[in-house]
Amino acid sequence: MAESNAPAPGRLTGPLRRLVAWLDERMPLTETIEYHATKYYAPKNFNFWYYFGVLALVVFAIQILSGIWLTMSYVPSGDGAFASVEYIMRDVEYGWLIRYLHSTGASAFFLVIYLHMFRALAYGSYRAPRELLWLIGMAIYLVMMAEGFFGYVLTWGNMSFWAAQVIVSLAGAIPFVGPELMEWIRGDYGMSEITLNRFFALHVVALPLALAGLVFLHMVALHHVGSNNPEGVDIKKHKDPQGVPLDGIPFHPYYTVHDFMATVAFLILFCAIVFFAPEMFGYFIEKPNFEEADPLKTPEHIAPVWYYTPFYAMLRATTFPLFGLSAKFWGLIVMAAAIVIPAILPWLDRGKVKSIRYKGLLSRLMLAMLVVSFVVLGYLGTIPPSPTATAAAQVFTVLYFAYFLLMPWYSRVDRTRPVPDRIP
Ligand code: HEM
Repeated sequence: MAESNAPAPGRLTGPLRRLVAWLDERMPLTETIEYHATKYYAPKNFNFWYYFGVLALVVFAIQILSGIWLTMSYVPSGDGAFASVEYIMRDVEYGWLIRYLHSTGASAFFLVIYLHMFRALAYGSYRAPRELLWLIGMAIYLVMMAEGFFGYVLTWGNMSFWAAQVIVSLAGAIPFVGPELMEWIRGDYGMSEITLNRFFALHVVALPLALAGLVFLHMVALHHVGSNNPEGVDIKKHKDPQGVPLDGIPFHPYYTVHDFMATVAFLILFCAIVFFAPEMFGYFIEKPNFEEADPLKTPEHIAPVWYYTPFYAMLRATTFPLFGLSAKFWGLIVMAAAIVIPAILPWLDRGKVKSIRYKGLLSRLMLAMLVVSFVVLGYLGTIPPSPTATAAAQVFTVLYFAYFLLMPWYSRVDRTRPVPDRIP
């Protein structure tokens, strides 16, 4: 076997050696470190795009830690919520920092995850044998969407209140059960303290637990099948006599150092935003949210935070009723479909190669089109509706879906290049 860097009893001396040996007899400590780090062989050609998994872990930790400290001073009541956020910002020692870490962390989380998902699209990481890893990732993404939404409502600012009103009222468009469902979600006839309380429970306890469990499963599935890489080559095909992949290197120390460097660079950038532009010109914290929730005063223009706006634009782009069902209902269907459709990618892709590096022009253009559509829709979702914006959103919604729905066709007819047997 290749030499281990783990603190295996054999390499340690003195009391530490005895402690590790004692622990090893009672739980698989050294074995786990070896399996997941020192004898976990990752492809040797990871690039920039492979930083975002670890950065997602870093941001997740920031959110949990800052969230715990926020909860110490936050009051989940109709009268207390907004005031307690003001109190955190003004009176709690370093409260402003804790809050800005959490609010900036939310945007950073989504940015990192969108880049992480883009990498998977570019290198075909969702394909066999990583379908389950991808599906767990999609479950994480859905829980993150809900987590972000519930957290946004907690500050009980006027935009929080009205955005929640808009989103919850979508449930009302579902035929037959809509009005009852809406009441069931809110726990009241309108958005109220009761709604705030259940959103608090979900945001602070239920969904973080679900996320932690899913992230754990994500890692288990990843380490079972091993990482893909920018070439899309399977490194397990060529192993030395000891069973070590020829194109693999031990995760520790090579990638722990690599990821540490990325984490430091990320934290510098993250802190710069937290200290100098935490509201990010209204994109991270919107202006109406500095006013308390007022059921009698609708903000001039209701829009969700940037990471939901591509889907919000699709919701608003669906303007026509069909089969006797309202446009709002179809908007809900289009929006939900747009969010979950990436889950079926492993079964839509019929291409011979995984990585974009060996795909033909057609696949490259389709991926570029998806990115452009997502960004343009994201922008359209932030601006007030107008006939031109709606028409543009309709076109880009069609293009967004085309990437997925046409994939079984274009991935098959695309002119791919031969993939090398090993990492060049
Ligand atoms: C809390 C959120 C998440 C965390 C902490 C996380 C963490 C990680 C880590 C550490 C890796 C290995 C390093 C890397 O490849 O960058 C990874 C790989 C991967 N993740 Fe995630 N992830 C998260 C969410 C997601 C989501 C939302 C998706 C997709 C829907 C996803 C899909 C994947 C895939 C396909 C891989 C394998 C990539 C490859 O080997 O090329 N992950 N994830």
